[in-house]
Amino acid sequence: MAFFKVLSSFFMLTAFHSSTFSLAHPGVDFGWDGSFHPGGGFSGLFPGFYQCSCPQANDIVLSVLEKAIAKEPRMAASLLRLHFHDCFVQGCDASILLDDSASIVSEKGSGPNKNSIRGFEVIDEIKAKLEEACPQTVSCADILALAARGSTVLSGGPFWELPLGRRDSKTASLTGSNNNIPAPNSTLQNLITLFKRQGLDEVDLVALSGGHTIGMARCVTFKQRLYNQNGDNQPDETLEKAYYNGLKSVCPKSGGDNNISPLDFASPAKFDNTYFKLILWGRGLLTSDEVLLTGNVDKTEELVRRFAEDEALFLNQFATSMVKMGNISPLTALNGEIRTNCHRIN
Ligand code: HEM
Ligand SMILES: *[C@@H]1O[C@H](CO)[C@@H](O)[C@H](O)[C@H]1NC(C)=O
Repeated sequence: MAFFKVLSSFFMLTAFHSSTFSLAHPGVDFGWDGSFHPGGGFSGLFPGFYQCSCPQANDIVLSVLEKAIAKEPRMAASLLRLHFHDCFVQGCDASILLDDSASIVSEKGSGPNKNSIRGFEVIDEIKAKLEEACPQTVSCADILALAARGSTVLSGGPFWELPLGRRDSKTASLTGSNNNIPAPNSTLQNLITLFKRQGLDEVDLVALSGGHTIGMARCVTFKQRLYNQNGDNQPDETLEKAYYNGLKSVCPKSGGDNNISPLDFASPAKFDNTYFKLILWGRGLLTSDEVLLTGNVDKTEELVRRFAEDEALFLNQFATSMVKMGNISPLTALNGEIRTNCHRIN
């Protein structure tokens, strides 16, 4: 049974998409292979989903992204994070985009999202252009996935063949958002547990944490490390001294919670492997970054070292893990809907 599903999907893809195989990023699995659900089943998504119904979808996404990222390079980071925070709550279903309404308690008010998650206007602009070109066709969940890939590529990161066909949820989950998205002061065991819950392993955890090669974090997300890491009023001892002193000037003991600092201060707008090099030097910004090296799990420690040494290895694994994250519990077929406005259900 599973064999036939796989086989027929393969033929469908070769028929629509024989040309995409040669475009695959080196080291990235073929598109059809990347469409397997992390749990082992077929996700039902495939790269050519809009080939007939909206062939210009990705070009429209890229044209809006190019403008937005040229204006503000950080926007690439914000959009990448938006897809992550979507996928970890009920799967990649654009639940994060829903506003409060009679039937919805918005995820935008959760601990990890409040005063933090951004990029909604860019998604709105993409959606408006897509509704004009191909009405009621491209889901908000796929827009988030396309925007995350486009943002990565436009920041100098890897391309990947992106399975599409996600549909949009009619529900959101504030508790899911609070409970499933890891906190910046998480222990390594906690990070591993929360990723496993999504079908993602230690390799995915370390590779996807490499998303912190771009973007910023607020003082409140790393203050504990500077002043009271273990309840003893001492800083995190893994912080390198000069870096620690610099951070204290951005993030005073009291106040300044919304001051921001780059996650990768050496190249905050370039998608490279500097993030991992900085961790080796005690210059990772968040506890969740540093514990990948120091959290006493050989596997993650080894991966941080290998990604720091070999940029291509990191970029390839990031691409593979992004496909895996993008396949978390999508709504397909008759489930969910194609929202006409990403802020509300139809
Ligand atoms: C491993 C667990 C993770 C934790 C604990 C974590 C935590 C955080 C925190 C606290 C911030 C700063 C938020 C703020 O100050 O408002 C942040 C920013 C960011 N995160 Fe993560 N994150 C994790 C994984 C990921 C993953 C898997 C991705 C994407 C693949 C990602 C991409 C980003 C990006 C790009 C930013 C910068 C956003 C911006 O500048 O607007 N993070 N993360
Ligand atoms: C993480 O931060 C939260 C909120 O500040 C705090 O309640 C919690 O105890 C911290 N956890 C750890 C492991 O330090």
